[in-house]
Amino acid sequence: MIELKDLSLVYPNGTQGLKDVNVKINDGEFVVIVGLSGAGKSTFIRSINRLVTPTSGDLLIDNENILDYRGKDLRNLRTKVGMIFQNYNLVKRSTVMKNVISGRLGHTGTLKSILNLYSKEDMALAYESLKRVNIENKIYSRADQLSGGQQQRVSIARVLTQQPKVVLADEPVASLDPPTSHQVMKYLKKINQEDNITTIVNLHFIDMAMEYADRIIGMRAGEIVFDGPASEVNEQTFEEIYGRPIKEDDIRGGKEDVETP
Ligand SMILES: Nc1ncnc2c1ncn2[C@@H]1O[C@H](COP(=O)(O)OP(=O)(O)OP(=O)(O)O)[C@@H](O)[C@H]1O
Ligand SMILES: [Mg+2]
Repeated sequence: MIELKDLSLVYPNGTQGLKDVNVKINDGEFVVIVGLSGAGKSTFIRSINRLVTPTSGDLLIDNENILDYRGKDLRNLRTKVGMIFQNYNLVKRSTVMKNVISGRLGHTGTLKSILNLYSKEDMALAYESLKRVNIENKIYSRADQLSGGQQQRVSIARVLTQQPKVVLADEPVASLDPPTSHQVMKYLKKINQEDNITTIVNLHFIDMAMEYADRIIGMRAGEIVFDGPASEVNEQTFEEIYGRPIKEDDIRGGKEDVETP
């Protein structure tokens, strides 16, 4: 379980990224965080793997306060908590396989990984992970030769290879077209359900949030202003979270891709 208690984060320039946030996220939940630009969505997500460090309060994962973590504890935390980024964060000039197997880094150690000393089990796991997102046929391609959607699937395969307990995804579909966005969200949801990996996703689009989330957390100015099951959310809820009427831009639209690549 992830537990934020009176959690606040003030950036060095004085901006309040999080303000007295209190929330519990249970194992296996699929949570979508929504809110306008600057609401604190990324700050919330990044706090959970300590890419940023809250300035007061407690942040417990499985009853341990991760705000105390340094060195080895921090590395272990980042092995346990995987991350997916808007820009995929792949090593562009490396092959898909190399990118995916680097998910084992936290388990294997840096030296072994530099020397490419991955075990047969790790290689098999990397291949299995690629298969789960239907991209095993690109295993020897260079990452930068893939489309955006394919690159994001590779980054999902990398996170799977890491075997995390929690996956954080910061705007994972913001650079993708609508059908590809749905495809990526479906893989995230499938993994969440099959492996019971707690998943926290920041999304800009209302329709996608409602379609994939079990639970929606709405943020405004660093505070949680809504927290409830996706089934209870409607247009008015979003207007309250955003503090303004819904616009066309808030909805991703577009049809889902029927083909499997
Ligand atoms: N490194 C930083 N230094 C100072 N202020 C920051 C920093 N990162 C974020 N902020 C500020 O903290 C607030 C929350 O930012 P955050 O990036 O968490 O918002 P967000 O909801 O993810 O927005 P977006 O939808 O644009 O990604 C904003 O006012 C932002 O300008
Ligand atoms: Mg953000």
